[in-house]
Amino acid sequence: MMNKKIIAAWCVCASLAYGCQSNPTQNKQSNPTADTTVNLGFDSQIDGQEVRLFQLKNAKLTVSLTNYGARLVSLEVPDKEGKSRDVILGYDSAEEYKKNYNNYYGAIVGRYGNRIGKASFKLNGETFSLEKNDGDNSLHGGTNGVYNKVWKVVNNTATSITLAYTSPDGEAGYPGTVNMEVTYTLQDNGGLTIDYRATTDKETVLNLTNHAYFNLNGAGDPSILDHELQIAAKGITEVDATLIPTGKSLPVEGTAFDFTKAQAIGAHINDENAQLKIGKGYDHNFELDKKAGFQEVAAVYAPKTGIEMKIYTTEPGLQFYSGNFMKDTDPKGKDGKAYPFRSAFCLETQHFPDAPNHPGFASTVLKPGDTYSSKTEYRFLVR
Ligand code: BGC
Repeated sequence: MMNKKIIAAWCVCASLAYGCQSNPTQNKQSNPTADTTVNLGFDSQIDGQEVRLFQLKNAKLTVSLTNYGARLVSLEVPDKEGKSRDVILGYDSAEEYKKNYNNYYGAIVGRYGNRIGKASFKLNGETFSLEKNDGDNSLHGGTNGVYNKVWKVVNNTATSITLAYTSPDGEAGYPGTVNMEVTYTLQDNGGLTIDYRATTDKETVLNLTNHAYFNLNGAGDPSILDHELQIAAKGITEVDATLIPTGKSLPVEGTAFDFTKAQAIGAHINDENAQLKIGKGYDHNFELDKKAGFQEVAAVYAPKTGIEMKIYTTEPGLQFYSGNFMKDTDPKGKDGKAYPFRSAFCLETQHFPDAPNHPGFASTVLKPGDTYSSKTEYRFLVR
């Protein structure tokens, strides 16, 4: 739960919605009840553009988001006692998100979510060089990625918001001017859907995903190792010592990666296993069994709160990251809560890491005239 000040700020923004983005000053004046002293770090400017906090709410979910990185800031769901729990990690101000950009809390990452090996790829014979921000590799689009940009709000209702960003040709090393849009919508069934659309004026690669860190016991609870996880995947993408796919698929059967039946995240996380050693835990792309279409691919259940999250997606892969690079000493999050080692997990729906360098992986190429389209839903239930 975030503090009262933030809730007040949300209400201001929710009531101003559109106007918060398009002309905040005018809207503040036209709303005499708006308390302009309670905007925290969210009513601010980054790169000379207005940053705001928005709230979506329905009978089951309350979500707050900022247009800085099109990111989820909080996601409140009822537990088995009906008590509201904020199940994602985040900060109380845009400034903290900016400062601690490289944990990507709640943001849309890209242009290429996850890694591109040696920070380079070829398209039609031309080599494109990206920023090396993860050893020799490029991670989540580099430091100039879309998570670090101020997006425009193009539509906003009580239960839905559409954010847009135009990434210029060559930005972060990627070809083509890419117009991207992300729509977050609350569904009556307890789902939060994320719809992605994009077009380009030059052939390029694109792989957008949301990088929310979840703890279904509530953000700030010290561990996710008790959470029971199920993933409909018979294989993972083997990685080398730098977490780049070798091109080989490893069967999960009989290994610590077998989540075909629900098992606690902590059950095998410390097994002797070469892949777990490289990731310092789980940090792998699960090759989803699903065929084309929008399908349920994973579920996570927290026995303590009774909260269950089901994941549906159109994507072929799911990056399961068990918070292995989180440190007990990391900067505190919302409400001053500590987020220690493995106190959150990410399940990022995506095309496979480094696909531009692996012709055998599903293609991430986007051509002029085509529309990039992807959909994911995080659906919350209690049992
Ligand atoms: C990656 C991890 C990385 C984390 C935060 C995940 O998507 O797979 O290796 O540490 O993002 O950057």
